[in-house]
Amino acid sequence: MLRIGVMVSGGGTNLQAILDNINSGNLPGCEIVTVVSSKLGVYALERARENKIPSAVISKKDYDSLQAYDEALLAHMKSYDVELVVLAGYLSLLGERFVNNYKNAIINIHPSLIPSFCGKGYYGIIPHEKAIEYGVKVTGATVHFVDTEYDSGPIILQRAVEVLPEDTSEILQKRVMEQAEWIILPEAIKLYSQGRIKVNGRHVEIL
Ligand code: GRF
Repeated sequence: MLRIGVMVSGGGTNLQAILDNINSGNLPGCEIVTVVSSKLGVYALERARENKIPSAVISKKDYDSLQAYDEALLAHMKSYDVELVVLAGYLSLLGERFVNNYKNAIINIHPSLIPSFCGKGYYGIIPHEKAIEYGVKVTGATVHFVDTEYDSGPIILQRAVEVLPEDTSEILQKRVMEQAEWIILPEAIKLYSQGRIKVNGRHVEIL
């Protein structure tokens, strides 16, 4: 069994996509053993409860330093023997100790084709607003390994989504989720669980 810890900050539709894939037998050998939220009261926590997955709220603001927060996160993941950490809409940066402990074992989903519309401040609806503002015809989503910078680790999977002339940022956000995020995040987890992701510096080879 691949023991997965999912980190969230919001509605948790990506968490739901992983759960749906597990529940339908599309992710054999994968189990979500804990869900960690950076905030209280988010709907992702309700999804964890409905699926009887132990959850915790670990917020940066409750700790004196990034280091102390990092230690708490790491201790939590280790206490559940987590092997793969999935950031599914998680908004904070992770500290060095956490990232080094889970080298090439933390993945994130970002709602754009990195390196476009990513980096500090590009979260939530913003990548979609910026994509429309810029006038791109195609955007999409990216699953990548996580390091200590925003959206900067090696890219595992990307999927393109069309931008239509009448799109609002909300319509585009929904299309990117439906046509890209909810597909490539479970797909990347599957590849990881099958040992089919080989990292060589910035380059990821799918075996
Ligand atoms: C998604 O767009 C994801 O790409 C981004 O944050 C959003 C989270 O949505 N990192 P949800 O909480 O999974 O519904």
